[in-house]
Amino acid sequence: MKVLICGGAGYIGSHIVREFTSLSGYEIVIVDNLSKGHVESIPKGVTFEEADICDKKSIEAVFEKHKPGAVMHFCASIEVGESVIDPLKYYENNVTGTIYLLQTMQKYKVKYFIFSSTAAIFGNPETTPIADDAKSVPINPYGDSKLTVEKILGWCENAFDIRYVCLRYFNACGAHESGEIGEDHNPETHLIPLILQVALGRRPQIKIYGNDYDTRDGTCIRDYIHVTDLAHAHIKALEYLVKENKSQKFNLGSGEGYSVKEVIEAARKVTGHPIPAVVEGRRPGDPAVLIAGSKRAEEILGWTRKYKNVEDIVASAWKYHQAYPHGYAPK
Ligand code: UFG
Repeated sequence: MKVLICGGAGYIGSHIVREFTSLSGYEIVIVDNLSKGHVESIPKGVTFEEADICDKKSIEAVFEKHKPGAVMHFCASIEVGESVIDPLKYYENNVTGTIYLLQTMQKYKVKYFIFSSTAAIFGNPETTPIADDAKSVPINPYGDSKLTVEKILGWCENAFDIRYVCLRYFNACGAHESGEIGEDHNPETHLIPLILQVALGRRPQIKIYGNDYDTRDGTCIRDYIHVTDLAHAHIKALEYLVKENKSQKFNLGSGEGYSVKEVIEAARKVTGHPIPAVVEGRRPGDPAVLIAGSKRAEEILGWTRKYKNVEDIVASAWKYHQAYPHGYAPK
């Protein structure tokens, strides 16, 4: 099967590409506009098309040329804080871009779609761990843009012949075990890479956004999931779609969470660096606790996690950061 990986040069997409290259039976085509992705992450021999999903003509040309059997969609704006400040950017990139992709799938009769959704669709959940069928009440435009796409997918399934899987990631983190690819955003806003930049001497300290949340140490708690474990879930989701021909939504979490302070402490152990920290005010749009159950993914997909503790996750990220202390290609 030919699989189009939209956003395949980005952080999560590039790890999925690595997993596919170790499997037989799939041909991969990466589509990326390189606004956030890194051409350096693309393995030799993998087909790459530089195209923007918001540019319908160029995306149609890719479908015309490659005739994919399935689409995985990772192109999105992903920063919670930024989405509060610039909501329209989030609806344009995340909703409009996906609509163009779905219209193109409809035109070229592509049936299978795997959508990169998020824990942010749940807002401040009523109970944790968040169940797969928990109520979705996003508290920031980012989460709402992803929930909007989940709803659109339901209607599209009804109207034309697509089957989809939505994978709601909790906090994707870590890096490929080789240390050859990892997390490199510009600007960086994610906790683990920022902490590791302190250990590398690129920042004097890590800012803790709020220590007055109703949590065990006052800092936000998140469910950190290793990107390679996420990658495995995507392959299983595609196998499921093809075999069962049914749409489904899965939470991909670990059932436990770590506070900002606990993650900093884990990084101190892994790097041996003191990592100075300073408490700042809360970041708008941040829920206090996000922890998922992944019961449905375990039961239906047979998904299991290899990385079970935060120190191992941070250690894998540290390997990449040491190899690329300024990211793939400092600009
Ligand atoms: N944080 C700090 N200091 C920093 C950066 C982050 O204290 O310098 C805190 C945040 O306030 C938050 C936690 O660390 O409490 C994690 O923040 P990240 O920015 O690393 O990640 P988010 O939880 O905001 O969001 C990430 C993805 C989203 C996804 C969400 C799902 O970026 O796309 O996980 O849980 F929706």
